Amino acid sequence: MRIGLAGAGRIGAFHARTLAGLDGVEHLVVADADAARATAVADSLPAATATSVDQLLDADLDALVVATSTPGHAPLVRAAVAAGVPAFVEKPVAATLEETVDVVRLVEAAEVPVHVGFQRRFDTGYRRAREAVASGELGFVHLLRATTSDRRPPHADYLPTSGGIFRDCAVHDADVVRFVTGREVVRVQAVGGAKGEPFFAAAGDVATAAALLTLDDGTVAVLTTTRHSGQGHDVRLEVVGSEGSVAVGLDHSLALRSVEDDVDFPRGPVHDAFMDRFEPAYRTELAAFLDVARGATPSPCTVRDALEAFRVVEACTIALTEGRPVALSEIPTT
Ligand SMILES: NC(=O)c1ccc[n+]([C@@H]2O[C@H](COP(=O)([O-])OP(=O)(O)OC[C@H]3O[C@@H](n4cnc5c(N)ncnc54)[C@H](O)[C@@H]3O)[C@@H](O)[C@H]2O)c1
Repeated sequence: MRIGLAGAGRIGAFHARTLAGLDGVEHLVVADADAARATAVADSLPAATATSVDQLLDADLDALVVATSTPGHAPLVRAAVAAGVPAFVEKPVAATLEETVDVVRLVEAAEVPVHVGFQRRFDTGYRRAREAVASGELGFVHLLRATTSDRRPPHADYLPTSGGIFRDCAVHDADVVRFVTGREVVRVQAVGGAKGEPFFAAAGDVATAAALLTLDDGTVAVLTTTRHSGQGHDVRLEVVGSEGSVAVGLDHSLALRSVEDDVDFPRGPVHDAFMDRFEPAYRTELAAFLDVARGATPSPCTVRDALEAFRVVEACTIALTEGRPVALSEIPTT
């Protein structure tokens, strides 16, 4: 297959290395607004470069992977759909809810497959949690605790473009709550704090936040997220049912230290960042996208899935800013 990759930054360079090693990828072409960055990535692999993203789309592609910074996502998905080229797009589909809705309408009308990059759907732990819920072995599920804790804050320049901590970080937790339970969120409440560097408050953002979600069957989900988990990158989910409970991410890499006697857990080493935490999931995700692009399977994470996760974090952001509960029915959809 001939695969185009738009965006050769942090995640784009990582995806380039993964794609170059996947069965079925015969030709990889990389483009970036910063041509030197595309060249550096391509030269480190068996890959070619395109001098522009437009030239990339003219390169007779079987599929396009979009890993540019967020403002590039929607235009590139639109261009891929117009060209009839199946696309993988990193989350989020677009920077705003309005543009996400617009892309969902376009993609659903066009029937060109688009797969959105919520890689936790391809993580073994999250998949097993989903299977445990679906099998009924947990009894009735009534509580979830989901967390995304980064080891260190991003660069100050990144914050104003991030969309805020809920849209940037907790959106993954919003997606897995839907993915694992198969339920929809109907109401949210949120709080946050900006301890640490002053640039969080300066950007109108918080560094630590929590949201309470009520699902449509009465299940309660608690989402917590922070930019200050110095012990290590910490991404977990606990699912509590009437007959049993399961945990995702509760392994020897756990970034917590027990203060109890005789506890030899966790033994480490911890994860440093999302790259090492989810390396196998990113690989499985892109292999699954090749199947989508071949027409062998439908998209395992559609633009509508991404829209629903975005609506949840949009509601969380309003709940935090306005200090009130927000019903999902207040958030526009298609
Ligand atoms: N799924 C995940 O876990 C995950 C993790 C990290 C980032 N992301 C998403 O991936 C995207 C990229 O994040 P990053 O951290 O790699 O950013 P980055 O700033 O490191 O890289 C972005 C790259 O895109 C290029 N670029 C920007 N606009 C472009 C355009 N219109 N055409 C071509 N190239 C363009 C830039 O020159 C840069 O090289 C973001 O949308 C982010 O939300 C997802």
